[in-house]
This record gives sequence, C-alpha cells and structure tokens, in this order.
Amino acid sequence: MAVAIHLFFTFLAFLLSGLIFFLASRKTKSKRPNLPPGPPGWPVVGNLFQVARSGKPFFKYVDDLLPIYGPIFTLRMGTRTMIILSDAKLVHEALIEKGSLFATRPRENPTRTIFSCNKFTVNAALYGPVWRSLRRNMVQNMLSSSRIREFREVRNKAMDKLINRLKAEAEATNGIVWVLKNARFAVFCILLAMCFGIDMDEKTIEKMDQVMKSVLIVLDPRIDDYLPILSPFFSKQRKRAREVRKEQVDFMVPFIELRRKMLQNPGSDKTAMSFSYLDTLFDLKIEGRTSGPSNEELVTLCSEFLNGGTDTTATAVEWGIAQLIANPGVQEKVYDEIKRTVGDDPDRKVDEKDVEKMPYLQAVVKELLRKHPPTYFSLTHAVTEATTLAGYDIPTDANVEIFLPGIGDDPKLWAHPERFDPERFVSGREDADITGVTGVKMMPFGVGRRICPGLGMATVHVHLMIARMVQEFEWGAYPPKSKLDFTGKLEFTVVMKDALRALIKPRA
Ligand code: HEM
Repeated sequence: MAVAIHLFFTFLAFLLSGLIFFLASRKTKSKRPNLPPGPPGWPVVGNLFQVARSGKPFFKYVDDLLPIYGPIFTLRMGTRTMIILSDAKLVHEALIEKGSLFATRPRENPTRTIFSCNKFTVNAALYGPVWRSLRRNMVQNMLSSSRIREFREVRNKAMDKLINRLKAEAEATNGIVWVLKNARFAVFCILLAMCFGIDMDEKTIEKMDQVMKSVLIVLDPRIDDYLPILSPFFSKQRKRAREVRKEQVDFMVPFIELRRKMLQNPGSDKTAMSFSYLDTLFDLKIEGRTSGPSNEELVTLCSEFLNGGTDTTATAVEWGIAQLIANPGVQEKVYDEIKRTVGDDPDRKVDEKDVEKMPYLQAVVKELLRKHPPTYFSLTHAVTEATTLAGYDIPTDANVEIFLPGIGDDPKLWAHPERFDPERFVSGREDADITGVTGVKMMPFGVGRRICPGLGMATVHVHLMIARMVQEFEWGAYPPKSKLDFTGKLEFTVVMKDALRALIKPRA
C-alpha cells in the first residue's frame, strides 16, 4: 500500500513538473555540467522511480551498477544529484589530495534540520568555523587517548554488565543469546556515562534508547526529501517529526540540568563522574558566537555523541561474532591469544591494556571492518566550490557519496577479498592504513578531514567486547551446525539480515 502511494505521488510529480522541466531545460541546456555517467532517468524524478521499483536496498542497487558504470557515476534522485565514488584512488584524490574542497556537507532536508538544530553538530555542520569549534572540542576534550583512558572503569563496568546479561539470557534459553541487542546495550551504557557523567538505572537507559530510536526512525529518508513538490502530502509525517523532537528535548533536558547542578555544587552527588562530554559543551566558545549552546543545541550534540557510536560499534561486534562462529579456527586462535596474554585464572578478565598486546585479535578486528564496514556509505560529502574529478564536473549542489564496500572488497587491492582471512594482516602479506593518509584500501571510518573522530574509541570498544565475549564463552551457531547467512540489511547501519542468535557455552 505504502509503495502504491509513493508510486502515485511520484507519477503525480512527474506530470506536474514535466512542463516546468521542459521550459527550464530549454533555457539551461547550454550550461549543463559534464556529470559522471549514470543510468538514464526520467525528467524531474530522474532515477528515483527506478531505485524505488527495483525492490532492492539502495546499497544493493548501487553495487549492481558498479560493473556497468564504473568507479564514478551519477544517480539523479529527484532534485538531488548523487555522485557515487567507489574507487580507492578517486577517493584519495577527493578526500585527501583535494581534502578541503570535498570537506563540506550538502543542504539537509527539513526533518534533519530540526534534529540537527540547523546543522549545529560535528557531522552535519558545513566546513567552516562552527564545524571546527565543535569537532576540535569533541576530539581534544573527549576523544583524545588520554581522555579515553580516564573512562576505563566505565568500560569495565559495562563489560561486566554485558557478560552478566549474556549469562542470564543463556540460563533462561538453554544457551541461546541475541548478539546485536546485548552489544548495543553495553556500548550505549558507556557512551551515556561519558556523555552525561550521571549514573543511570537500567529503566532510564532503556527509555533513553527508545527516544534515540524514535529519532532515527523519523530521520529515515522520505520521497519528499527528493521531490519537495510532494511535501504537502507529508504534513502528518512532519507533525510526527516535531512531536518526536519535543519528546527528545523534554526527556533529555532534565539530565542536562542535573549535570549543570552537579557542576555548580561539586560533591553533591557521590555517584557523579568527574568529567563528561556535557561539561565540555556548557561553556563552549563557538567561533562567531557570543554565547554557549542552548539547551536544545545540547540535546542535539549529546544525541550525536550517543548515536554516532552506538549502532556502528554494536554492528561491528555482531559481524565479528558471526565470523568467529563461521570460522571456529579463528575463534580458537583468539581464545589462545587471550589465554597466553592473561593466563588461565578465571578471575583475571582481559582488559584494554592486554588487547594492545594481542596482534591476532587486532588482525581479526581489522579484517572484520574491511569485510563488514558498519555503514556502507560514508556520511554524504559536498564540495565547497565547483570542481572536477576524473574529468567530470562536481557541482556544489551534488551529494558526493562514497560506497565503502567498493573499496574494501576491491580485487585489485585485496587477494581474495570475499574471504574472511585475518592472516592477511598477521603475516604482513597485506596491510592498510585505516586513516587513508598514505593510501586508501579500506575506510570503515571514512578518510580525510571528516574522518570519524570516534575511530580510536570505537576500536577500543570493539576489541574489548570481542575479547571479553570470547574469554567467557565459546560461540557456536544456532541452530547447531546451521550455516550463517552473511547477507546484510540496512537499519541505519548494515546489520545481519537475520539478527544473529548464537549458542554460547561458558569456557571451562
Ligand atoms: C565502529 C564504530 C564506528 C564507525 C564504523 C564509524 C564510522 C563513521 C563514518 C564512516 C563516518 C563518516 C566519515 C565521512 O564523512 O567521511 C563517521 C563520522 C562521524 N563519527 Fe563515527 N563511526 C564509529 C564510531 C563513532 C563513535 C564512537 C563516535 C563518537 C562518540 C563517532 C562520531 C562520529 C562523528 C561526530 C562523525 C562526523 C565527523 C565529521 O563530520 O567531521 N563515531 N563515522
């Protein structure tokens, strides 16, 4: 039904706009930019119709076009022109060599504008002073390696919670546990504590999670994002977005105020943490502004911190555990390395300092991020001024999308890219600079000026979770001996199509 309505609106848009397009195109024909090639589309709606009718997830649609159109191609999605890059050299040229040119973000749709407080976040800000102030604060005051070390106890507590939840779930179900859900909860607890510096009970954590999820749901792209002419038909959805924003603000502001009070009366709350992301934001000086962020802006910045690191990290853990189940030899090697590093004492939990001495585990995590980047596209880039790439024009109003599996899976860059083979990194046969500076071969965190600022912290979380989960349990397929399906589906990140359930046995 929903699809039929969308098709109807698309058709309507086609008719209504056809005339405008015809008149406009007669005037502007001579000025058309030389865009990369792409599938022929319809007037006005462009390829939108084809993408919607294909029945494929967008990443699959793009993947299927790569052999036809090559490493740079154009899709016209209604009023948006998307230029899709999937080649390591081109990405290096765009995001590293011409880094500052490709470092901005495109205009946002009205729903996103509400939730980003008019682009007042690290991820959505245009390349300029606001972005620089927000990003510098996040990187230097929250995500530097010394700051990350300060939150070690928070991580240890969350890891214990994770293991206890898995044990309890396994006891109730004859050993069957959900992986993504539990990993997600653990990482969310860490980020919440870092963000607010307040001790929260499980009920509050779950409510916060619900609020975050409803935000992600209303942010899902809609057809009127691509064809604004249809926006009158989406007033109900716009109303819903405003309601969700209000719920988000109403729920989060009291925690912001609580933390503010704690800072004004040091020692008043014994459970309070000594430092939090919020503390760095209260009096943040933003270039070009006289006052610090408003409460609404603080809600937006905290949500970015929580959303940026939760699903991405948990998704990586789900794919990682799936690969350890499908490759028991690799799992055994990880376990052996843990035992070699920390010994057999069951009370000695593997921690992040041990992880630094575990090259095999590091190779497993690198291979998992190569093979299963949690997001298949980096965040959308745009150019600060019209430029060219590979001989084609890149106009300022184009969305530049980077298709990450096109790089991590490229047979020109990797031997047998389809295999999950951590040995490639251990033997030194192959390697990759994950920051892309010396060359791009895999880029799960993006590369260049907009590279994920959470890279360091996220890798600590993924290593630690996998290490603790393998130290405590042996992981097997459920149902026993079944073959895992490694198909992905988009759910903000690309998670396993069938959410992973595993059979766990406590290690002797
Ligand atoms: C495994 C976990 C993670 C993955 C795979 C990941 C991936 C990415 C990717 C692909 C981008 C887009 C880069 C670009 O635009 O070119 C990004 C940006 C970003 N990430 Fe992450 N991320 C992860 C964890 C985190 C964490 C833990 C945080 C913070 C708590 C975080 C915060 C951000 C922010 C703020 C941006 C926007 C940067 C900017 O626009 O300047 N991410 N991330």
